Amino acid sequence: MRIKLNYIYILIASILVFSCDSSSSEEHKKAIHIDSSSKISTHSFSNVDKIHTKHLSLELDVNFKNKTLYGVARHEMDNHGSDTAIFDIKALEIQKVTIGRGDEHETDFIIGKNDELLGQPLFVKIKKDTKFINIYYKTTEETEALDWLDPKLTAGRKFPFMYSQGEAILTRSWIPIQDAPSNRITYSADVKVPKDLLALMSAENPTNLNPEGKYHFEMKKPIPSYLIAIAVGNLRYIKLGKDCGVYSEPELTEKCRYEFVDMPKMIEAAENIYGKYQWGKYDVLLLPYSFPFGGMENPKLTFANPTLLAGDRSLVSVIAHELAHSWSGNLVTNAAWEDFWLNEGFTVYFENRIMEELYGKEVADMLAIIEFQELESEMNDISHSDHPEDTQLKLKLESRNPDDGMTSIAYVKGAFFLKTLEQKVGRELFDKFLKSYFKKFSFKTITTEDFINYLNAELLNPNKIEFNTKEWIYEEGIPDNCIKLSSKRFDVVNKLADRFANGEDIFKTKRKKDKITRDKFNTQEWLTFIRRLPKKMDPAQLKKLDDKLNFKGWGNSEIMTEWYILGIESGYKGIRPQMKRFLYKVGRRKYIAPLYSALIKTPENLLWAKKVFLRANVSYHFVTFSTVYKMLYPKGNGNIHHH
Ligand code: BES
Ligand code: ZN
Repeated sequence: MRIKLNYIYILIASILVFSCDSSSSEEHKKAIHIDSSSKISTHSFSNVDKIHTKHLSLELDVNFKNKTLYGVARHEMDNHGSDTAIFDIKALEIQKVTIGRGDEHETDFIIGKNDELLGQPLFVKIKKDTKFINIYYKTTEETEALDWLDPKLTAGRKFPFMYSQGEAILTRSWIPIQDAPSNRITYSADVKVPKDLLALMSAENPTNLNPEGKYHFEMKKPIPSYLIAIAVGNLRYIKLGKDCGVYSEPELTEKCRYEFVDMPKMIEAAENIYGKYQWGKYDVLLLPYSFPFGGMENPKLTFANPTLLAGDRSLVSVIAHELAHSWSGNLVTNAAWEDFWLNEGFTVYFENRIMEELYGKEVADMLAIIEFQELESEMNDISHSDHPEDTQLKLKLESRNPDDGMTSIAYVKGAFFLKTLEQKVGRELFDKFLKSYFKKFSFKTITTEDFINYLNAELLNPNKIEFNTKEWIYEEGIPDNCIKLSSKRFDVVNKLADRFANGEDIFKTKRKKDKITRDKFNTQEWLTFIRRLPKKMDPAQLKKLDDKLNFKGWGNSEIMTEWYILGIESGYKGIRPQMKRFLYKVGRRKYIAPLYSALIKTPENLLWAKKVFLRANVSYHFVTFSTVYKMLYPKGNGNIHHH
């Protein structure tokens, strides 16, 4: 990586001729093409090893009328004598760049050739002792991180909403920044929004409206750029515990209060396992349905999808997951997206520990088994794809989208590696090790190799323990020594599913207490039941289950997605009205992508899916939109543009 970075730098230095006349603004706007074909595998153009941002202060004006963010990004740099600073930008309009603080002078800049994935490098001419660089900019219609929602896409339907999604490499589309996770920065922001809306960031947050719509934010701990986040909407705050609470639209406040009641206990459990929570407050922000993820671990303020409001607290492991990121990911961060499993594998492992602490081992194991089933199925798909090497924990993502690494390999293979290791060394030693790991690498970014060295030095060597770490990390598939989990409660539903699939009438029972009703099993048991059914069922059989149990209108997004997929594969059309409603409303990619992916398999379903997408796409964030668009129109001929 370093060699490439030097190479690109020399290349640029040799062809870069700065225009001396900084007042010729036309000159500035002309994008000068610089050959940056030798892409660096950090997914960033920035020259952070020469000069890097230490602190960023933002001035932002959030304009809902034209769905534009007007900004100034003031970078305070640590400059090791460089006369060029390189930032990442994507679909941003750069108005001017100045250097200095207080006494600012315009300077020259050049915008490099656009790369569809990475965006453009922004080269700024500076002096060898320059410390302050100020970039004046605005976002455009192509800005990918930001979702601007019309009122009708919110719970209250009266006020517009806007939020950002930075991970993995989208922050550059709303802030000109050195967008590499290896660089940590502190930030502050002054944000102006319409008077009746509240602004929040991944920082110290207000709990009340400001009558002028002006908000100030501080994030005093150094974080990677992908964790800078903003949201603006009609929002209220409720406290759930001493230092934790939930922001949501007022219409959803009480639902949130019920669903997330265990948050304070989760924080306590997490602290007991891996040490003190380092970020002050822990709050959750409930976003509109278009939010493309279940949750996003923005520091101090987890962003959450309203599908978590299942009404029975059955999906709160997502909160445990995002909270766990406050250690794995946010304290100890992957140095590059190739090391993504350091963020997510550790987090899934830790999430499961929190769940075990709160709800017991039986529940935690059921959750882990559900995840393991997903891993096995995805492992099988990836092994037979163009990139079987994607089943390794350490990824190779050079000139590929980091999204390609967002599979259950990083999440679940990563977590099962740690579970297996825990089993081998014993929980006591393992916890001691992980606690020291989080302490040692707090507020640092590390590579997979840093982890391996630390593991050997602190846990395996001193205790003379042999472990196939390298096989887990650098080889494909799941190693043989992977820990095996089982659940008696799952055995019961699996038997029931087998009986049903064999044509037995499982609803006819002698005793009332044996009657199969919705309440007889929990969400994870019903998921297991559906998954156990043969991949192609007789539609009449499926209809029978719907008549008795109403899976198609269950209200729990995990169950509905699983059911719709089985329905699609089995040619069961009875699900269509409910499935259409779901596709119109929900933008969480984990649900939406598998549904479209199942639909494109027959011409008739494909046609139906395209018709649905034509209307549904307005309620998808760019992340989900582009995933689905590529499935429906692999040749890019859909002629539908993201709103
Ligand atoms: N950090 C991820 C979301 C993410 C990953 C966004 C990569 C962009 C790129 C977040 O913590 C996450 O994993 N969310 C999951 C939930 C979790 C319980 C597995 C999700 O959204 O489904
Ligand atoms: Zn995660």
